Amino acid sequence: MAILKVARLGHPVLRQVAKPVPPEEIRSPEVQRLIDDMVETMREYDGAGLAANQVHTLRAIAVIEVLANPRYPDAPHIPLTVVINPVVTPIGEETEDGWEGCLSVPDLRGVVPRYRSIRLECYDRDAQKVSLIAKDFFARVIQHESDHLRGTVYLDRMRDFSTLSHIAEWNKHWLGIREQAD
Ligand code: NI
Repeated sequence: MAILKVARLGHPVLRQVAKPVPPEEIRSPEVQRLIDDMVETMREYDGAGLAANQVHTLRAIAVIEVLANPRYPDAPHIPLTVVINPVVTPIGEETEDGWEGCLSVPDLRGVVPRYRSIRLECYDRDAQKVSLIAKDFFARVIQHESDHLRGTVYLDRMRDFSTLSHIAEWNKHWLGIREQAD
């Protein structure tokens, strides 16, 4: 296992589209090692998720996990979820505003509208097909990570930049304002 270097905003890899992983390659040592390294990297930097683009690899793989996370103290727990070749379909039109940050956009937070409920279809790390419905924060993280795999970052999804905050100012002025009202 290894902690990988995380690309920051401005690196072209964050704007490129990751390629689907052929299902027969998912169980290969190379892909399994990449997944292990992504999990270790996400945990090292207290990310709620990490997409392969962020570690300079254009494969459609993301990992998600929220346990006790100092970057998201109020977030509900999400068990480790490995998402390969995700297809995200909104369920209904309802969106919700919420705060997001990104390991590739260090020290910033902003309010992003996301679909409240989505269906996720993907493969897991055992090459099994997965289909699940996610809501609220889990749905938000899935949308954030799936966006990365298409070269999109959360800043692109903000309605405007009036909430964009440096983390030190966010702790002073926004912490405790749990979710932005629509
Ligand atoms: Ni991100």
